[in-house]
Amino acid sequence: MLQSLSKSFGQREVLQNTQLHVEPGQFIAIVGRSGCGKSTLLRLVAGLEQATAGTITVNDKLLTGLSDDTRIMFQDARLLPWKRVLDNVTLGLP
Ligand SMILES: Nc1ncnc2c1ncn2[C@@H]1O[C@H](COP(=O)(O)OP(=O)(O)OP(=O)(O)O)[C@@H](O)[C@H]1O
Ligand SMILES: [Mg+2]
Repeated sequence: MLQSLSKSFGQREVLQNTQLHVEPGQFIAIVGRSGCGKSTLLRLVAGLEQATAGTITVNDKLLTGLSDDTRIMFQDARLLPWKRVLDNVTLGLP
């Protein structure tokens, strides 16, 4: 759940007092024009960025950083062509 979430980069306020409640198992899509803040929102939910104001809770627990349960698929191709498929998939695993 996002409550009163805001995110600014310097003077630029990208997310302003954003509210969102996602039920367990719910599948949602975030749409909007380029630059409106979709990726910023997802980075916040993934714990990769810190909000300027507001809170994110997952299963009633305050999100404070990276979570083992969160996965992110990058928008652009991020494959390393000099590595094998398996090495690409397991990249980042301990
Ligand atoms: N790290 C950053 N530093 C400064 N400005 C940023 C940063 N990240 C994003 N922004 C700005 O925040 C705004 C929202 O960017 P964001 O990438 O979240 O948009 P988006 O909705 O995902 O766009 P797109 O549809 O093109 O992927 C843009 O104006 C962008 O330039
Ligand atoms: Mg984006």
